[in-house]
Amino acid sequence: MDWWQTGVIYQVYPRSFQDSNGDGIGDLAGLTTRLEYLAWLGVDAVWISPFYPSPMVDFGYDVTDHTGVDPAYGTLADFDALLARAHALGLRVLVDFIPGCTSNQHPWFKESRASRFSPVRDWYIWRDPAPEGGPPNNWLSHFGGPAWTLDETSGQYYLHTFLPEQPDLNWRNPKVQVALLDVMRFWLERGVDGFRIAAVPLLVKDVQFRDEPPNPDFDPQWDNPRYQRLPVYADNQPEVHDVLRHFRRLLDTYPGRIAVGEMPDYFPPETLAVYSRPDRLHLAFTPCPLSLPWRAADLRACADKTQAAFGAEVWPTWVMGNHDRPRLTSRIGPAQARAAALLLLTMRGTPFIYYGDEIGMLDAPIPPEARRDRVRSARPPNEADGGPANRSRDPGRTPMQWDSMPNAGFSGTPPWLPIGPDYEHRNVAAQRADTGSLLSLYRFLLRYRRGSPALQQGTYRSLDTDSPECFAFLRETPEERLLIVLNLADTARVVSLPPLGEGQVITSTLMDRAERIDLQTIFLREHEGILFDVHGPAEAEEVLP
Ligand code: GLC
Ligand code: CA
Repeated sequence: MDWWQTGVIYQVYPRSFQDSNGDGIGDLAGLTTRLEYLAWLGVDAVWISPFYPSPMVDFGYDVTDHTGVDPAYGTLADFDALLARAHALGLRVLVDFIPGCTSNQHPWFKESRASRFSPVRDWYIWRDPAPEGGPPNNWLSHFGGPAWTLDETSGQYYLHTFLPEQPDLNWRNPKVQVALLDVMRFWLERGVDGFRIAAVPLLVKDVQFRDEPPNPDFDPQWDNPRYQRLPVYADNQPEVHDVLRHFRRLLDTYPGRIAVGEMPDYFPPETLAVYSRPDRLHLAFTPCPLSLPWRAADLRACADKTQAAFGAEVWPTWVMGNHDRPRLTSRIGPAQARAAALLLLTMRGTPFIYYGDEIGMLDAPIPPEARRDRVRSARPPNEADGGPANRSRDPGRTPMQWDSMPNAGFSGTPPWLPIGPDYEHRNVAAQRADTGSLLSLYRFLLRYRRGSPALQQGTYRSLDTDSPECFAFLRETPEERLLIVLNLADTARVVSLPPLGEGQVITSTLMDRAERIDLQTIFLREHEGILFDVHGPAEAEEVLP
C-alpha cells in the first residue's frame, strides 16, 4: 500500500486559512504557521487550492502564471518554506493544477488573441461563427451562458468551459501539452508530492465540435441552463486518457508523487474506474457521499456500487466537502456531523477533509455587499445540496475559525469574506480544550485509523439491517475485523445484525461508551455511530489447536 491509499488528505483554501500580514487575506506564510495544527490533528497530506498569480475572477482557478505565487499569497520563497516545514512535520503537500484553461490575462492568451495569425493562436480554441452567425455550436458554459465568446477584433469565437475570463487551452496542440507538462515538472522539482487536477474529463473536446444533444430530463426550473444539453462532445472524450498517460509517465519518474482528478458527479463508478487505471490517475474523486442525500440506503448503494465497479485494483476516495459545495454540516445538519466523521474515516478509500469541517463549520450568511463569488451555481439542483438554489460558493469559503478572538484568530483585520457568526463558540481552541468535541472525535479517529490495518487497507462489506435509517459495514484484514454502525435517524434505534459474536466499543461518535456487547442487537442513540472491534467466532477458531 502507498501513502496516498492509507493516508488522509486535508484541503486548505489558502485565502481563508490564516492571514499572516493583516490584509484580511489568507496566505502561504499563514498556512505555514498552522501546519503544526494539521500534524496534531493527524492528517497525512495537505492539498492547497490555487495560490498562483491570478486576477481572482474565479479565486485562483483563473491563472496568469502556473509557476508563480500571487503577491496576495506570498512568494515562491514562502512556498519553499511551507513545503520544507510540512515535510519536517511529516506532512505531504499537493498543489492544485489547472491544465484546462488559463485567465484571459495570461500572456499566452493575450498573444493568442492578438491576431488570427499569431504563432500561438492554436494554443486556445478559436472557431469561426456558425454559418448563420452566432456561436460555432450549442455548447454552454458550466457557469451560465454560451461556452463561446466573440472576439471582435478577429471575428472569431473562443471556447470557455467556465467563465469568459477563463479561455480553454487546446489540448490537441502538442505544444500546449509540453508547456503544461513543464509546469508539472516545475512543481515536482520543487518537491511537491502531487497534484489535484481540475476538471480532468473536460480537457479534450470533440474534434468536430458537434452540437450537444438535448437532455430529455431537463427541467426549466433548474437554475443552470447548461443541463439543457447532455455532456457528450465537450466531456469525457477518449483522448483525455492519452493526456492522463502523459501525466502519469512524468509522475512515475518521481516516486511517491500522485495525481488526484476532479470528476463530475454524473459519472458512474465504472467510468471513474477507467480514469483510475494504473497508467492514469492515482485517485479520481468519487461522487459519493458528497453528492448524495444523507440517507443510509443511498450511502450504502453508492458505496456498494463503487466497490463493485472498482474491485480490488482501483482505489476510491471519500469526500464530504470542498470549496465548490455547501458546507457538510449545513447540508446534513449539525447533529449528523459526528456520524459523517465516523463514516468518512472508516470507509475503504482515501478520505479528504475540507478545512473547517473538523469543527463543524457551517455555511456563513453573506450579505449581498460582501459577496465575492461570481459563479451562481455550477450544478443542477440536487437534493444533497438542499434542493434548488441559486447559490454562491462564498458561504462555504469563509475564514477558518481558530479561536474566539476578533476575526476568529484568522487575521488582525476584517477578512475578505465575513467570519461565521458562531465563531466565538465554534472554533479550534474551544474544541481542542473539550475532549468530547467534534474536533476531538476527528483526532481520535485519525489516530486510530493510523494504527488500524483494517481501516487503512481492509476489505469493505455492507450488512443488512432491519433499520432503514441505519448503515452497517465491516472492514476486515486477516488480523483485524471492525464493525461500523451508524444511525442517521433523529430517534434511537435497535439494530439487528447477522451473527458476528461479541464486539468491543472502540468509540461512539458521542465518545462516552466503552462496553463490550453481543453484536446481534445494537442500541444506538439518535444520530449515534459506533466503531466496534469484533471478536467473533472467526477469531475463536484461530486460537483453538
Ligand atoms: C475547478 C474548481 C472550481 C472552479 C472551476 C473552474 O473545478 O474546483 O472552484 O470554479 O475549476 O475554474
Ligand atoms: Ca495576507
